[in-house]
Amino acid sequence: KEIVVSGIRPTGFLHLGNYFGAIRNYIRMQEDFDCYFFVADWHSLTTHPDTRELQDSVLRVLAENIAAGLDPEKACLYVQSTVPEIAELYLHINMMAYKGELEKTATFKEKVRQHPDNVNAGLLTYPVLMATDIIIHRAKYVPVGKDQEQHLEMTRNFAQRFNHRYGELFPEPQAFNFGAELVKVPSLDGAGKMSKSENQMATLYLADDDDMIRKKVMKAKTDSGPTEPNSEMPDYIQNLFQLMSFVSEESTIQKFRDDFNGANIRYGDMKKQLAEDMVKFISPIRAKAEGIYNDRAYLKQVIEKGAEKARVSAKATIEKVRELVGLNY
Ligand code: TYM
Repeated sequence: KEIVVSGIRPTGFLHLGNYFGAIRNYIRMQEDFDCYFFVADWHSLTTHPDTRELQDSVLRVLAENIAAGLDPEKACLYVQSTVPEIAELYLHINMMAYKGELEKTATFKEKVRQHPDNVNAGLLTYPVLMATDIIIHRAKYVPVGKDQEQHLEMTRNFAQRFNHRYGELFPEPQAFNFGAELVKVPSLDGAGKMSKSENQMATLYLADDDDMIRKKVMKAKTDSGPTEPNSEMPDYIQNLFQLMSFVSEESTIQKFRDDFNGANIRYGDMKKQLAEDMVKFISPIRAKAEGIYNDRAYLKQVIEKGAEKARVSAKATIEKVRELVGLNY
């Protein structure tokens, strides 16, 4: 079986971007691939989170993944920091990464803009740790959203440099999505991608209650509609159609498309439909996640079992690395 790795940072509740960019693929891939999915707790330390909140977030991410359909019996589901071999390999991969390329990374530049007072070295080497997460299991496929594309390219570069210097060990991993193109779920305000840190009212969380979902969708940006048939569609309306494509029936979407093209679309009706389809999609996951989140004994067992399995794979890689680098005393 081919090896798959992907991770999610525990920085709060998961949103639809996480689901349709990543988790939806996890659920499908767990059937046919050798999967390692993890909560990237080390990664979230770059922003110095509150200790209690971090622990809570880790459990929530686990619970929400399982509620969405991830089966810890099929896929290895673990917490990054329970696999110390990752930290060891991270040291080696740091020697394969250059300051200039790290400073040019889009996510780094964005963080520097957002938090100029906290440009720590962990932030700079974030792509190195992410590359390590992937190659520690010698993965071939990495299901992620479009925002992670550059990190995957860097991963291939680091892996290649290691291979050239010390000998072939790491395959070159590819970003993966079942729909072919990597997904970017738009935010409800039409301003970029859905994300945890941006406008909360423009982000739909898997934990939002039904009324909150309706409220957020109804507030999504629209206008008074096209005045003539077959007008060009503004970005924020395209975004609504894209969100619909994730949760609504094809025939429903087609109806609103026809209405748009006929210049008689009612955005209020469209948003009502989208809100109800979102509620139908999110509420069973939310209910299930709550139950799992409260079952601490079960989650503890998931974490322990995940660590055990992930470490078998990570140790095998680390042994090879030590041998190749010449540290096998
Ligand atoms: P993170 O925690 O920001 O997001 C987790 C996953 O959700 C995807 N995603 C989206 N996809 C589509 N549209 C959106 N609006 C959207 N928002 C988030 C992300 O692409 C990601 O797949 N660096 C990673 C975590 C990570 C990782 C790894 C991933 C650490 N090590 C190794 C893969 C492999 C991150 O910050 O994801």
